[in-house]
Order: sequence, then C-alpha cells, then structure tokens
Amino acid sequence: MTTGPIGVFDSGYGGLTVLKEIKTALPGYDYIYLGDNARAPYGSRSFDAIYHYTLQCVEWFFKQGCPLVILACNTASAKALRSIQQLNLPKIDPSKRVLGVIRPTSEIIGNYTHTNKIGVLGTAGTVQSLSYLIEIEKFFPEIKVYQQACPMWVPLVENNEYNSGGADYFIKKYLDHLLSQSNEIDTILLACTHYPLLIDKIKAYLPSGISIVSQGEIVAKSLVNYLDRHPEIEKNCTRNGHSVFFTTDAAEDFVQKATIFYGSPIHAEHLAL
Ligand code: DGL
Repeated sequence: MTTGPIGVFDSGYGGLTVLKEIKTALPGYDYIYLGDNARAPYGSRSFDAIYHYTLQCVEWFFKQGCPLVILACNTASAKALRSIQQLNLPKIDPSKRVLGVIRPTSEIIGNYTHTNKIGVLGTAGTVQSLSYLIEIEKFFPEIKVYQQACPMWVPLVENNEYNSGGADYFIKKYLDHLLSQSNEIDTILLACTHYPLLIDKIKAYLPSGISIVSQGEIVAKSLVNYLDRHPEIEKNCTRNGHSVFFTTDAAEDFVQKATIFYGSPIHAEHLAL
C-alpha cells in the first residue's frame, strides 16, 4: 500500500481556485497539482479526447503515489470521471480513488434555492454532457435545472481580460440567455473552475435576489467529509503540509498566470507526458 499526496487535476489553471479552498479546509495534507495546460482548454473538446487526456494524467498521479485524485475540472468530471471510475480504476488499482466536482455540488445545491429553479453555467462540454441535470435530479427531483454554455468566459479569464470592458458583452450575453429560459431562477451555479474570477461582473448583471454559488468551498467541505468517512483512504494521504505544482506546458507561463487563480505566488515544474 503506497502513501502520498492528494492529487488535484485540472485542464489548466482553474483548478487552483479549488485547491486554494481545499488547502484552507485541510491545510495539513500534502498536495500535487497538475494543470494540463498544453492541451487546454478541455471545454470544447470531444468526449474521447477528454477521457484519454484525463486518464493519462490520473495514471501519472498514481505513479506519484497519490491515493486519491480530485478532478477539479468540471469538464473532465463530466466527460471522463465515470469511465475512469468504472472501467480503469478496477484494473489500475482498486484501492485508489478518483473524485470529481459535480456530485458534491449536486448533493447540496438544493439547499440554496427557494423556487426550485437553478441555472447552471459551464463550458460547452459540461453543458452538453447533461451531467448536472442527471446528478441534481438524483438528489433533488423537484428542482428544474436550466443550463447555459459560456464558451467565451474561459478565454477572457485566461487572457487577463476578465475585468475589462470587453468582458461585459459576453457576461451579459450568456446571463441573458440563461435568464430568458425562466424568470423564476433564484440560484446560479458557476460550474466551471474559471468563473469565480468573473463573479463581480456576473453580480453586476444579475437582478437582485439571485444567489451565485461557486464550487471551491463546496468541494473542500465535501472532501473533509469524505476523508472522515473513509479512514482507509485518509491513512494513505501524507501530512507534511507540502504542495507541488506541475504543468504540461511552459512552467514560466504557468507561474505567471497561476497567481490570479491561487491568490499567492507558486513554483511550478514542467511535466512531459
Ligand atoms: N477547467 C475547465 C472546467 O472547469 C475550464 C477550462 C477548460 O475548458 O479547460 O470546465
């Protein structure tokens, strides 16, 4: 039985917003973060591509000794997680675990709405997968979910345009599309790692009375709970308070942009997969 850090995976930088919250909730553990920046964005890629890339990264985490890998990326959680859990994990190592962000969010999203009408904003891949509709239905069958893909929001954040006047057009456009589906939506879920950076602008274009839910804290709380309930996994997670960061693209670029997402400077290494 190997012991090691908790792996946190994303297509790029966005998962750093999730890791930040996880580390706040569980500061004592060791973490390895991998951003597959060389192949990002995942949001517009096919099921096969996302599954293949995500599986390759999960196998790398396992080689580093990770007993548990969190897919912090919504698109990877939507398109690759189930296949990896059901087809690959039993063959690779049944004692290891891979978890995503969609289930923990779906489990509690019903606590935020009074009208039982929720809006979900995500990448085209997440929206097309219908994963949130399927998962939320399991926990809250009375809730109606409305979705909207926001393909321009990730590029706006990645190109540091998220605070610019240019961002306003696309923020308003996708919010209008979402809200035109129902005037009873009272809760909007930011189902993409990048969207918390747009939260101020999103708020500015929403009528009052609509709450916005970001995932980082939800995923962190759910992980605390998971480790409590699964001592057989928890005991294999090392606890020296160390975090290391890898990217499949240039480390210098990653380090430069990472601060926006993580809130503090990091050191990163390039990983050739
Ligand atoms: N990390 C992705 C997500 O949460 C967004 C970025 C991408 O499209 O790769 O869906």
